[in-house]
Amino acid sequence: MPHDWAVELPFDWAADGSHGFKTLGVKYPTNSLAWYRRTFELPKEDEGKRIWLTFDGVFRDATVWVNGWCVRHHEGGYYPFREDITDVVHFGGRNTLSVRVDATKAEGWFYEGAGIYRHVWLDKTAPVAIAPDGIFVRSEFERNIPRGSPDIAVEVRLLNTTANATKATVNCEIISPAGKSLKQISGMGTLQRKSQRTVELETKLSSPVLWSPESPKLYKLVTAVSVAGKTVDQQETSFGIRTVGFDPTQGFLLNGKPYRIYGTCNHQDHAGVGAAIPDALQEFRVKKLKEFGCNAYRMSHNPPTPQLLDACDRLGMLVMDESRLMGGDSENMRKWDDQIRRDRTHPSVAIWCIANEQFMVQDTPQAANVARTMQDYVKQLDSWRPVTYAAPEDDVFRGINSVIEVRGWNYHYGPQVDQYHAEHPSQPNVGTEQASVIGTRGIYTNDRPRGYVAAYDVVWPGWTTTAESWWGFFAERSWLSGAFVWTGFDYRGEPTPYWWPCINSHFGILDTCGFPKDAFYYYQSWWTTNTVLHLAPHWNWPGREGQEVLVQAFSNCKQVELFLNGASLGKQAMKRNSKLSWQVKYSAGTLSATGFDDAGNVMAETRVETTGDATQIQLTPDRRMINANGEDVAVFTVAALDAQGRIVPVAQNKISFAIEGAGNIIGVGNGDPSCHEPDVFVPTAPARNVAVKDWRWQLARIPKNRAPVPEYAKDFDDSGWRPVSGGGPTIETPDTAAIYRAHVKLTEEDLNGAGAQLCFSGCDDEGWYFVNGQFVGESHDWQAQPIFDVKKLLHVGDNVVAVGVYNGAAQGGLNPNVNVQIIGHTSVPPWSRSLFNGLAQVIVQSTRDAGEIKLTATAEGLAPATTVVNTQPFKPRPFVP
Ligand code: GAL
Repeated sequence: MPHDWAVELPFDWAADGSHGFKTLGVKYPTNSLAWYRRTFELPKEDEGKRIWLTFDGVFRDATVWVNGWCVRHHEGGYYPFREDITDVVHFGGRNTLSVRVDATKAEGWFYEGAGIYRHVWLDKTAPVAIAPDGIFVRSEFERNIPRGSPDIAVEVRLLNTTANATKATVNCEIISPAGKSLKQISGMGTLQRKSQRTVELETKLSSPVLWSPESPKLYKLVTAVSVAGKTVDQQETSFGIRTVGFDPTQGFLLNGKPYRIYGTCNHQDHAGVGAAIPDALQEFRVKKLKEFGCNAYRMSHNPPTPQLLDACDRLGMLVMDESRLMGGDSENMRKWDDQIRRDRTHPSVAIWCIANEQFMVQDTPQAANVARTMQDYVKQLDSWRPVTYAAPEDDVFRGINSVIEVRGWNYHYGPQVDQYHAEHPSQPNVGTEQASVIGTRGIYTNDRPRGYVAAYDVVWPGWTTTAESWWGFFAERSWLSGAFVWTGFDYRGEPTPYWWPCINSHFGILDTCGFPKDAFYYYQSWWTTNTVLHLAPHWNWPGREGQEVLVQAFSNCKQVELFLNGASLGKQAMKRNSKLSWQVKYSAGTLSATGFDDAGNVMAETRVETTGDATQIQLTPDRRMINANGEDVAVFTVAALDAQGRIVPVAQNKISFAIEGAGNIIGVGNGDPSCHEPDVFVPTAPARNVAVKDWRWQLARIPKNRAPVPEYAKDFDDSGWRPVSGGGPTIETPDTAAIYRAHVKLTEEDLNGAGAQLCFSGCDDEGWYFVNGQFVGESHDWQAQPIFDVKKLLHVGDNVVAVGVYNGAAQGGLNPNVNVQIIGHTSVPPWSRSLFNGLAQVIVQSTRDAGEIKLTATAEGLAPATTVVNTQPFKPRPFVP
């Protein structure tokens, strides 16, 4: 865990392309349903505690059993759910948790994964304790301007599960970002029997250290609850002090000042692992976004996993927290309530988004009502945060737009937007979704057969635009607040503009691995204060000598001069929020550029060189030391270098990987939107069937239990029995029993496998099953297809299967379609991945043992590479034994 089985499935052109052509969904029933099982011990001493089970997210339609009790059914693939399972657990014994996950149906129009793809928690609490998601901390400044000492308001919701009224004391300690204890506050509450109650505390903090993406300083609140002088619960909550708001003329305000949103929208999948992103990889992704100046993350189009919000709090990234569904019905509002209560203390969360692009209803009075219901509810639980809706409309003030607090803009920019603003000057605005610029990393010509799109910043399908045109418009209008680009990372599904063989989107500024495309440098030029100078394309174009190649320079220097093999191709002035282009006659060598400031001083230099053929592999981890907690990951970049150590930008070599030591490979990728190679190599066991044929039968009186009768014995003579023929029922009358027998010959090879299962197709109504005279199991449901593990009872040569069948109602009997499934030994195929335009990625996860992880990469014709990452002792978070 977390786990996404969709990653393990093959691609098929007949599958749903919007979900990434994975063989999942209605057409593939056997791939779309899975069971998870886990046993765990609960010590006797836990008796008297409440035991809670929390799922952060399961895709989708989960049914949960504990010790055979069905404790929960939950459909939504993105919302958390939690159950108090105390009544059905065994204290001082073993417990079995079973989860049935049905990913047949989809919720979105993008890759959504399949399985328990977020964390699962088992919480043990005292009978009087802090309620789940029961702590809310907020800071408030007068008029929402961070001057003086803010009020710190703490709400602690307590839960009394006992049958007695009780008094509880709440003590809170506030600890500064530097680790200094600042304040102690406390309060008391009387809780009625079996009830909840919120204790509200307030204090002031002088000289607050404000949170921002540039300086993400976090305070800590330690909450302790005691009953009759004894501490019964304690929790740590991090929080930040900052103000957010929108102003109709100044745009978004952070800590009272206009603050431009340099945002990206993102789905929740990454190369190699799909939707099951380890926490450390969430952090890796947030850092990648920050590299090009992104300061805001739209959780499109669903509630995020809490660990992603933690990463945004810690690393400094504003968040637009979005619901999956729009609806004012009780079920949707319960989910909206869960989402808001869970996420509202995170300082990163700056704005709630009630929905995305409700084309069919958005302009109706009913949609206005529902929007108002959802928005008012936010104000009830979280009065200080603004609310928006991602509207794919221009100058339209009907339905949702007419009631929403902050007008969201999906794709529209231009005079209509100005007109809307002029007509509705008191409504603030934000670009909820812009761009959808398409480009494949390292590709510079459109290639329909392979599904690639040139990564130059050029316009493509109708609704998309260039980075330069949308950002140019937003950059000049502070009242628009900035916007969220569709998307930061490429994601599986929604291949655009070409369909199969393309299986993922390439709207990203980064590809699915997080490797930058050229657009990265456009945004970095205008969204950061770094000096940026980048040239596109690469300079490996054998066969195109003398032909013109489009060269683009992304830079924030005032002027850029381009050179080919030392000869100047001219100097151009860079307009703000723009880029430069040249048509250059290709000849191999060095394309270089120099960037100047206004005074003509050299600010930056860059070059791209024609490389030689690839000769060696390079492996570079993002970190040299990770934690030995079984969760942390090291992300390796795999590159092909030429003899001079330069990355070969066109290399496509297939690389194989081997790992030794304290880590495992959990996924591989290369950012190629049309790559059909596996992202994971899972252990598999071959299976084949040996048919059990030629059944004979006879009516008989049998005990309705496992007690043997002579007809079940191996050497009973059944030669005079009637053969079972045809597919229909054999027992004609109700309340009648019969015995069925068949022989099956097995070879030594059959029995050398890892297992053998006897698989039945049906037994109407009840059956008792015997192999070579030994009882193996029973069935009591005419629709069941029982399977028994029988390897131990089988031998080489003749084996006898006998079944006693009792037909209760109508007609019945045994379905003679029976197989022995021979299961071979499990093996893990070797990990491999082809490079895509010089690069690939390997994600390695630590075990819980500290030590060395050695990753080796080999490929035909290239010198191999071996790189070591160390893991340091680290206390794993508590886990259920
Ligand atoms: C938007 C939509 C996104 C994505 C995008 C592709 O309209 O909100 O989810 O589909 O188009 O350009």
